Amino acid sequence: MSVLAGKVALVTGASRGIGRGIALQLGSAGAKVYITGRKPEASDAAIEAGLPSLDKTAKDIESRGGKAVIVYTDHSNSSEIKALFNQIADENDGTLDILVNNAYAGADFLMKNSDKRFFELEPEVWDVCNNVGLRNHYFCSVYATRLMVARNPPSGIIVNISSAGGLKFFLNVAYGVGKAALDRMSVDMAVELQKLGITSIALWPGAVKTELSTMRMAAGAMKQSQHDEVTPEQLKAILAGGESTEFAGKAIVALAADPKVHKLNGRIFMTGDVADRYGFVDVDGKRILSARSLKFLLQNGLVPIPGAKFFSYFVPAFVKIPGWFLSAFVSAL
Ligand SMILES: *[C@@H]1O[C@H](CO)[C@@H](O)[C@H](O)[C@H]1NC(C)=O
Ligand SMILES: *[C@@H]1O[C@H](CO)[C@@H](O)[C@H](O)[C@H]1NC(C)=O
Repeated sequence: MSVLAGKVALVTGASRGIGRGIALQLGSAGAKVYITGRKPEASDAAIEAGLPSLDKTAKDIESRGGKAVIVYTDHSNSSEIKALFNQIADENDGTLDILVNNAYAGADFLMKNSDKRFFELEPEVWDVCNNVGLRNHYFCSVYATRLMVARNPPSGIIVNISSAGGLKFFLNVAYGVGKAALDRMSVDMAVELQKLGITSIALWPGAVKTELSTMRMAAGAMKQSQHDEVTPEQLKAILAGGESTEFAGKAIVALAADPKVHKLNGRIFMTGDVADRYGFVDVDGKRILSARSLKFLLQNGLVPIPGAKFFSYFVPAFVKIPGWFLSAFVSAL
């Protein structure tokens, strides 16, 4: 299945986690995938041991018959970002079909400091969260769009990996503001891209299982008991029912292969919603419920009514809550 044969894609931050999963899926679908990450890289021995690294992502793409190009990039450095796009343009006659803005540098810092309030941390936490997670995405989107607009006719798709952290307090003020801004950026860019045939979409992965970092972040969030009302048991259940790191990649493959994708310009999707739309399941064959589905919320005890979990057995997964309602609901938690 090479639905993306001949396409050129860039996934920023592809050493591990969701970025790695997306790169694997785009590569498996036939795209030539540029993958970025920072040096220093893991040693050969660590790669042999299966530890995540950019090299490992590239090797895994190639073992699936795909093509990967590693470009070591510090996404907090403007000149390195610019050089990355120059390289892609030079090597592909100016073509870039798919940009996935995924790089995020603040996760470790956030986990270590999840028990501190914003005024207890130095204000540079803003830069830790948002230099790569927001500023870099803006830079990448500018350079990618320039390549996409120059084509005849203009075409391309830009996906920002965001999260429900844009909806409600999670971990840290600077983190949440950055995520909310990222969603806004996508939507505003979409306004300017509307007539150009270039598509900008924000994608929210749900709870991602097997990801150590997600588990640790979630554990960190638990420490914020003054803010979070999700119990550790509920959280465990949510993660156990979660999606693989490649599920977001399947969503992007489906979107990028859809000739009518531009109709979705400016939308914010959860991965489970994209799966419902295009009819795919996770890599292990499991159906993933959208976090927006009533069933998901009931199952995970996120609806504050007695017996909510019991009711969830009777609610079909296709009963969806409108995004605006979820937003209001989550804010009210
Ligand atoms: C940014 O990257 C360039 C090229 O790799 C390097 O020469 C420069 O020192 C970097 N700047 C910073 C602030 O790290
Ligand atoms: C993605 O991020 C870029 C840069 O931050 C922004 O310009 C663009 O509008 C965003 N697009 C989407 C769909 O989120």
